[in-house]
Parts: sequence; C-alpha cells; structure tokens
Amino acid sequence: MEKTFLMVKPDGVQRGLIGEIVSRFEKKGFQLAGAKLMSISQELAEEHYGEHKERPFFGELVDFITSGPVFAMVWQGEDVIATARQMMGATNPKDAVPATIRGDFGLTVGKNVIHGSDSPESAQREIGLFFKEEELIEYSKLI
Ligand code: CMP
Repeated sequence: MEKTFLMVKPDGVQRGLIGEIVSRFEKKGFQLAGAKLMSISQELAEEHYGEHKERPFFGELVDFITSGPVFAMVWQGEDVIATARQMMGATNPKDAVPATIRGDFGLTVGKNVIHGSDSPESAQREIGLFFKEEELIEYSKLI
C-alpha cells in the first residue's frame, strides 16, 4: 500500500485547519496510518528540508516550520503521493487553483498551509524522519 507524509504547517494549525484538511483526505478515500501534533526541532527542520539548504529562503523556511506546532500525518492508499499533491495544489498559493487546499486556504509561498512528499523516495525518507515503525497502523481489510 503506497504511503505518503503530509504535514499541516504552523499556519494551518493556528488557523484551525487540521479538521478540514484531515476531512478532505478521509472523504477522498485515503486511510490515516499515523498522526501527531508536535513541535519540530531545529535539527529535524534542517534535515527534513535538507534539499533546500542552498536556497536563499532556507533560514526563513526553518524558522517558520519551528515557530509553532505542526500536525504530522502518514496517509495510505492507491497513488496517494501524487493524488495528495494534486489535492494540495501548487506550492505557491497564488498559482493554486480553487478546490485545492492551498488554493482555498493559502496566500503566500512561505505560509502555504501544508507540506506533502513529492516522490516515493521523499515519502519513505520523511515518514522515517517523523514516525517510528510502531507508530503506524496496519489496517487488516477494507478499501
Ligand atoms: P514545502 O512543500 O513545504 O517544501 C519547501 C517549502 O519551501 C515550500 O513548501 C514553501 O513553503 C517554501 N518555499 C518555497 N519557495 C519559497 C520562497 N521563495 N520563500 C519562502 N519559502 C519558500
């Protein structure tokens, strides 16, 4: 079963969007395999966003993601990685179409409400960074 890592960022948590976001993925038919409300340390933030280390906005990115609690999740289901990216919308909410999460709730590229893995390799890496194996649920049947 394909799995992806999704995270409601500090802006989404503070604006009370966790329920709305979880609901969208549930209604689509995906299964929640793990979730936690947590604070991200400087070290975890730098590791998670390691591929952006050389970008001019890296410091801002790390400062923002460590600025308040996030809601980290693992979702599973058919093509969940690509489908979740579609449901999130473009990285810059200015380019995200309505009915996507960023299109409906985001305004700026920094505070863009949600993060989602962009490939099977990132999904595996990011799930491993945020969750221990025993924190993830195995559903036996259905869907
Ligand atoms: P995310 O999907 O979490 O992955 C990397 C993040 O970098 C991205 O979402 C944006 O929030 C952020 N980002 C991309 N470009 C910029 C930018 N120009 N300024 C600030 N943050 C950015």
